[in-house]
Amino acid sequence: MSKDAYYVTTPIYYPSDNLHIGHALTTTMADTLARFNRLKGKDTYFLTGSDEHGQKIQRRAKEAGLSPQEFVDRIVAGFQNLWEKLDIEYDDFIRTTEPRHKKVVQEIFKTIYDKGDIYKSEYEGWYCNPCEAFWTERQVEEGNCPDCGRPVELVKEESYFFKMSKYADRLLAHIEANPNFIQPVTRRNEMVSFIKQGLEDLCVSRTTFDWGIPVPINEKHVIYVWFDALSNYVSALGYGSDDPRFDRYWPGARHLVGKDIVRFHTIIWPTILMAADIELPKEVFAHGWLLLEGGKMSKSKGNVVDPLVLIDRYGSDAIRYFLLREMPLGQDFYYSEEALVNRINVDLANDFGNLLSRTTSMINKFAQGEIPAPGDEEPIDVELRELALSIPAEVDKALDKYDFSQALQAIWRLVNRSNKYIEETAPWSLAKNPDTRSRLGTVLYGLAESIRFATVLVSPFMPNVPDKVFAQLGVQGQSRLATWDSVQSWGSLKPGTKISRGNPIFPRIEWKDEEEAQVEAPKAEVKETKKVEETVPGVAQISIEDFAKVDLRLAEILAAQRVEGTDKLMELKVRVGEEERTIVAGIAQYYEATELVGKTIVIVANLKPAKLRGIMSQGMVLAASQGDRLSLLTVERDIPSGAKVK
Ligand code: ME8
Ligand code: MG
Repeated sequence: MSKDAYYVTTPIYYPSDNLHIGHALTTTMADTLARFNRLKGKDTYFLTGSDEHGQKIQRRAKEAGLSPQEFVDRIVAGFQNLWEKLDIEYDDFIRTTEPRHKKVVQEIFKTIYDKGDIYKSEYEGWYCNPCEAFWTERQVEEGNCPDCGRPVELVKEESYFFKMSKYADRLLAHIEANPNFIQPVTRRNEMVSFIKQGLEDLCVSRTTFDWGIPVPINEKHVIYVWFDALSNYVSALGYGSDDPRFDRYWPGARHLVGKDIVRFHTIIWPTILMAADIELPKEVFAHGWLLLEGGKMSKSKGNVVDPLVLIDRYGSDAIRYFLLREMPLGQDFYYSEEALVNRINVDLANDFGNLLSRTTSMINKFAQGEIPAPGDEEPIDVELRELALSIPAEVDKALDKYDFSQALQAIWRLVNRSNKYIEETAPWSLAKNPDTRSRLGTVLYGLAESIRFATVLVSPFMPNVPDKVFAQLGVQGQSRLATWDSVQSWGSLKPGTKISRGNPIFPRIEWKDEEEAQVEAPKAEVKETKKVEETVPGVAQISIEDFAKVDLRLAEILAAQRVEGTDKLMELKVRVGEEERTIVAGIAQYYEATELVGKTIVIVANLKPAKLRGIMSQGMVLAASQGDRLSLLTVERDIPSGAKVK
């Protein structure tokens, strides 16, 4: 059993902020793989969790006026709530502040130290706080992190070092001998060339802050947060405590990660494991980034889309489908709500939903509401049946190489073939003639059975679909119709089953052009302000965390220009720290372009970007207004742009 077990992990995310749909993407991938392997009857274990130590978290907690533990407790509760809403069924959620984890990290550190592969020295170099990554002078690009482009800090302290360089050749040999160890192949090639440039020893302890796991032999040091975090994959399985789970699942480990952290998972982690004499994970798959106009969606940039809002609006199945269907294997892709709505309307409502709705309607009209018995098969029926029977293996093959989009496209080939089959067999004509009753039975039965195939296959991607479809086919709760075995042969549905036609399982969404809705915003803003003034005593209180969700920053206006064709909107180019942004503001009736340039203003930096008159606006400016007067907010003393306002 153990050789075949399937162990899938997500990165353990930093609880420095709430998660966005980029994180939801990785976790949905892992959940889908776990559900798919459970469906196939594999012994499956799915782990996710939170990476709670490190300097960044300690700083964020301080900013929020909380202890680090209080700070992460609140955010992690939010992670778990999100996973519940997104129908994520993990077997375990590991938090790096748990004693069971700390113990294992210290043991691994001590084992490597005792072996002589960790030694004390002095670190002098650069540190990227958001990535929690060390860089050498040579690697740093004009003072910025080569990975994320943000400024690095000079660090000089006594540290422990791990002899990573010692394991470079062994790692290369492993990658060579195991072509699937790093996927997709582009990432594998990148890592191989990175290793060939030469590995340096890795700094694995810090002394300048204390929010971490103490180095077991020297309590003045805390263990480097990546050494700590990566160990979650074995600590959660009970490594070192004679837990049979470890031997059972570890050999089948698949780490899913974003391409931002491949290096940590395919170089640092395997070399730590080699030094600690632990077998390497089976595969590491890195997916690309979900982008918004303006670049990678990221917590620290503040350009994020909140998955909870989308789940509320469209349901978890639709979000899961969208993410997995749109993502090209290993590559970046853009998020837009319009594309999401389009997938819902076309793939889900039109293709899948209509197939079910047309089929159940015809069974009602032409077969007294009961799934009819099939008669003899004609070539077209054989073709449909054979197509249905070929899809499970295709889905399996695609998911084995982490190609979720291809797997869904295979299922949709069956869905679309079935829709076309309706046109080609024209059941409404067959129903008119008593001589074609048996033929009608074959067609309607075939459609119901195809729908069942598609439903079973889609269940790992959209876990709520089977209940909804089965209720309409009159087979709810019949779990034997939802198994992997039941899609290896044709004909599990029982003729004579009374169906129960219901509402569309994926209602169409009316898509309001957001661009239009947003152009109205400046007007609405003025009204809003009035309303708030009148009702201030009754305005609901908010907590400090609610307020902390709004990322207010100072911005310097570099250029201003009235938006053509409007008398209200002004297009501003602003600098926020290192970054330049465009913001469209409804202030053109109050300010001349020339008087704006050079002003330092306050902006909401994490407002979801929106298109106004065709211009992507990346934030909102703050202004006070009353009656026909309006004044931008500015600062009283000289403070550089990018500074946080709170
Ligand atoms: O790196 N597109 O945590 P993190 C796609 N704690 N995926 C994205 C994404 C985007 N725009 N943004 C984030 C850490 N992700 C460490 C991990 S593991 C031992 C420690 C996903 O909170 C993607 O999986 O910064 C990425 O690798 C991960 O979130 C980074 O999450
Ligand atoms: Mg990150």
